[in-house]
Amino acid sequence: MAEELIISNSDKAEKYQILLPQIEALISHESNWIANLANVCAALNMTFNWLWIGFYIVRDEQLVLGPFQGPLACSRIQYGKGVCGAAWQTELTQVVPNVEEFAGHIACSSLAKSEIVVPIHNPARKVVGVLDIDSSEYNTFDEIDKYYLEKLIDILQRTKFSSELAVYCDVFP
Ligand code: SME
Repeated sequence: MAEELIISNSDKAEKYQILLPQIEALISHESNWIANLANVCAALNMTFNWLWIGFYIVRDEQLVLGPFQGPLACSRIQYGKGVCGAAWQTELTQVVPNVEEFAGHIACSSLAKSEIVVPIHNPARKVVGVLDIDSSEYNTFDEIDKYYLEKLIDILQRTKFSSELAVYCDVFP
């Protein structure tokens, strides 16, 4: 892909349907995990009007901030802490309609109102990172976002850069 992104102006399911194959094509030409995760953030940011999109990567037994788009964010998150730490601990996607009702939510920005966090696994099914998305509105994320963002993470997990990411992480099979 030559740095051009086609964005559907239909509903969000169609936005994801148009976006995911483009992301797959984009990252298939590049093996560097930082470059790919950075472009994934940019593609999501160009498609959706969200507050913050980014990756946290497991390193030194913490989640460490990786490529992102949006305001400044917390650099490190402990296991089990916040929505990201919960996704790491449970190994399940967390959909949070109202962050004020999530016990232990870490407010990197006071503008964040709802959030979704999807874990990323290595081939041995251990969590190596998370995709974290914040919205400045309540109830932004639902089953549609969960379905397509998990599909997006599946695509990432199947690419060759995921083995490079797994080496960077100190999570070994
Ligand atoms: N809200 C997250 C912290 C990261 S920021 O949203 C970028 C959490 O509770 O884990």
